[in-house]
Amino acid sequence: YATVGIIGAMKEELELLYSSAGMESETVKAGMSFRRGVLHGQPIIAVQSGVGKVNAAVCTQALIDLGADCVLFTGVAGAIDPELQIGDIVVSTASIQHDMDVTPLGFQPGVIPYQEISTFPADPELVELAAGAGARAAKGKAIRGIVLSGDQFIASREKVQSLREGFHGACAEMEGAAVAQVCHMNGIPYVVIRSMSDQADGSAHMNFAEFTVLAANQSFAVIEDMIRSL
Ligand code: ADE
Repeated sequence: YATVGIIGAMKEELELLYSSAGMESETVKAGMSFRRGVLHGQPIIAVQSGVGKVNAAVCTQALIDLGADCVLFTGVAGAIDPELQIGDIVVSTASIQHDMDVTPLGFQPGVIPYQEISTFPADPELVELAAGAGARAAKGKAIRGIVLSGDQFIASREKVQSLREGFHGACAEMEGAAVAQVCHMNGIPYVVIRSMSDQADGSAHMNFAEFTVLAANQSFAVIEDMIRSL
């Protein structure tokens, strides 16, 4: 890839990247700062999107307009798969907006009405590279799975259960499927890499506070390893 776009939602998710890559120039769009740099010889544009699907969507479009020809998302998530421990990695095979709900009109949960696709597949080659990097660079497990996105912080066993049963998700976060949809609309490959900061249960708010930096750094370690193999 000529230019790899890298998005994180929060500053913790990008701090290591900014200190590892030589960041050269900066463009501001929609209040977001897009920084060009080079990571292990690979030209990149890195940006902090802010939290939630709208921020993520605007950010992704601007990133593509600035010339990114693939998009990697790095960050933290709440585990939905009960096998996942804090610090473990999920590489997205696909992502779904779990809070899209037009069921009163007869659409399945998560389905965006009147368009062909609502489950956005990640690029198979990027998934392979990320999974390989996860196996090498992560301290814990690295699995492939479905990433569920919604404008909600998930913090109850019941909600975890319904996300697991309804969508077969591996983890829940707040941006990935918005990034995925915008990439799909532009014909740009993407993959989401998330490390677990919590288990989306009653302790999620405390775990999130305690483990976000650890998890964000795990996710970055995978991105960094992956960039070397691009
Ligand atoms: N990001 C990290 N933990 C999360 C959770 N429990 N729900 C949504 N997004 C998250």
